[in-house]
Amino acid sequence: MFHLSPSILAADTANLAAAVRAVESGGADSLHIDIMDGHYVANYAFSPKTVTDLRRVTPLPLHVHLEVSNPDAVLPLFAAADMIIVQEDTAPDLVATLAVIRRLGCTAGVAVNRNRPVEALLPVLPLVDLLLVMAVEPGFGGQPFDARVLDKVRWLQQQRTLLNAAFAIGVDGGITPTTIVSALAAGADFFAVGSAAFAGDIVNAVRQLREVKARLC
Ligand code: DX5
Ligand code: ZN
Repeated sequence: MFHLSPSILAADTANLAAAVRAVESGGADSLHIDIMDGHYVANYAFSPKTVTDLRRVTPLPLHVHLEVSNPDAVLPLFAAADMIIVQEDTAPDLVATLAVIRRLGCTAGVAVNRNRPVEALLPVLPLVDLLLVMAVEPGFGGQPFDARVLDKVRWLQQQRTLLNAAFAIGVDGGITPTTIVSALAAGADFFAVGSAAFAGDIVNAVRQLREVKARLC
């Protein structure tokens, strides 16, 4: 399994449809749409309308990453997405939140920040499709990759085997053709990639990220 999800936070939003077509041509598996509320993070990004608009221009699965203070209050607005990812520190009853996401007909992901213990998520591992490890502070693209989060990735890989579970192990933030190598080695198989996907020649940038995996096999 290898899943590449370009994060449109880094795209030229004045030419979003063209950027999306380019990542499609490069071999993207889905689109990562960060939703930011100016409160959980000191930035704003995208809205439910972005999701419904993108539906019309791409067959790619749409993954919504909620970087907002109160995701429970807005989940139904994102029912058009294929996957909804919540930050674990924003959902007081994570099990209930995941159940709502499923009732909306979406697959469910949970993201964990760098300074938070991933071990606390053990009870929800059988309930998620994706466990997304943040390798940067949420809020902005283009930050450097924090290699210390690879310990979380290794732990998740061990638990996945022990539990015989099927969730994807993702990394979001600072992924480049260089850092993706160590993330793959640690056991990650899902990557949200902003700046390194939408830089320069987008088709080639996405292809290059895929080729890293192909070369390692
Ligand atoms: C950060 C977002 C990421 C961001 C990654 O809060 O969740 O998805 O777009 O961007 P890069 O790949 O540039 O670190
Ligand atoms: Zn994200």
